Amino acid sequence: MSKKSPVSRSGRFTGGPAADVAQFTESISYDWRLWKHDILGSLAHAAMLRKIGVLTRAEQIAITRGLNTIGKEIKAGKFSWKPELEDIHMNIEAELTKRVPAGAKLHTARSRNDQVALDMRLWLRDEITALLGDIAGLQRALVSLGEKNSDVLIPGYTHMQRAQPVYLAHHLLAYVEMLERDCERLWDCQSRVNVCPLGSGAIAGSTLPLDRVLVAKLLGFVDASGKVQLTQNSMDAVSDRDFTVEFCAAGALLAVHLSRLAEDVILWAGAEFHFIKIADAYTTGSSLMPQKKNPDIAELTRGKSGRVFGNLMSLLTLLKGLPMTYNRDLQEDKERLFDTADTVRATTRLMAAMLSHTTINRAACAVAASDPALLATDLADYLVRKGMAFRPAHHVVGAVVAQAEKAGKPLNQLTLAELQTVDKTFGRDALGVFNLKTAMASRNLTGSPGTKEVAKQLARWREQLS
Ligand code: ARG
Repeated sequence: MSKKSPVSRSGRFTGGPAADVAQFTESISYDWRLWKHDILGSLAHAAMLRKIGVLTRAEQIAITRGLNTIGKEIKAGKFSWKPELEDIHMNIEAELTKRVPAGAKLHTARSRNDQVALDMRLWLRDEITALLGDIAGLQRALVSLGEKNSDVLIPGYTHMQRAQPVYLAHHLLAYVEMLERDCERLWDCQSRVNVCPLGSGAIAGSTLPLDRVLVAKLLGFVDASGKVQLTQNSMDAVSDRDFTVEFCAAGALLAVHLSRLAEDVILWAGAEFHFIKIADAYTTGSSLMPQKKNPDIAELTRGKSGRVFGNLMSLLTLLKGLPMTYNRDLQEDKERLFDTADTVRATTRLMAAMLSHTTINRAACAVAASDPALLATDLADYLVRKGMAFRPAHHVVGAVVAQAEKAGKPLNQLTLAELQTVDKTFGRDALGVFNLKTAMASRNLTGSPGTKEVAKQLARWREQLS
């Protein structure tokens, strides 16, 4: 611990904090990640201070140069972080002031309370943009896998029981839809992240004539129509972390979707399904069983969803009892936010890479999809077309299934005579129902797994994602 008082204690305190206190309260070990955004915020603040006459032109230039140099040193890993300076804000400002005397003016009308709120908003804004790109990458990987195997059929499942045939692409596009809703939630979250809190001070703004609009414009806090976005209540602005909760909630739902996709991949890669083969580079082996090839990326994706849900719960709990306004508790928001962003971004990227290195075992899919029982519902629809009400039709086909089971043959091997012993409505054309190709061609509703419809959806996504 340094004997010297850190910036925030000068004047009021007789010395620095005790070593264990410094260690307990520091955040530089993790909030150093905000450095780029902290510097960007300071550059904008300095430009504004110059405009309102707090800084001279020469002082602003010196501060700008100093901050840019510090930025370069941090980037190069040459900046030495001082835990006794608590956090990213004081580390940078203290070093700047050591090098540039005018640095002492930089904190005019600014508090770490509005500074940290600003840094986190700037940081999260970039992360959301990057995450949206990662998600689009995963969507593209899903669409490509569907396109490459556009004729492959698999059973669709409900209750983990074979239900009805679907194109593999239809199954994959279900995830593309989920991921698109994740993007929509993130865009929406972004609109509330993208609001400038600087100028709120510690709690009650400032008596100095700050130009908040200029700072917001310099930092890109404008909406799609170019309207400047400023927080409207200084007390709210320094204590609001709703945007971190919103992001972690959107991240949690994204993690749910990734986890479900992972579960399908894990099932499909196993010998029982054998629908897919993941490239060696995207699997791991067993230290004991030489034959094993494990889908660890998918398993970790499923497993890591837990910490993402935990982060959301931590943030909600962190905020729920806080009196107005800023409380040091809020420092605990960072690791949770960082962890959610890191985890969902890495899992999204890794899942995309893994799927881009996955091939489909067409033979195994074909065998599974050719189970004629998958078309039992089509046989009921056949009876409906002949004029029977659906409930009795369902009952009749149930009896046909039982009959086939008793006879020990697949549904499509029953003779017309056998069908007619169950119900006379069956005609010569009844067995035609079991032609998979025509069965798939006849599913034409919007959103159905029909041949034309799936091709249309693949084309729509290809276009939308390009
Ligand atoms: N490191 C602090 C945080 O993350 C910055 C704000 C500190 N403000 C204060 N008044 N101590 O919340």
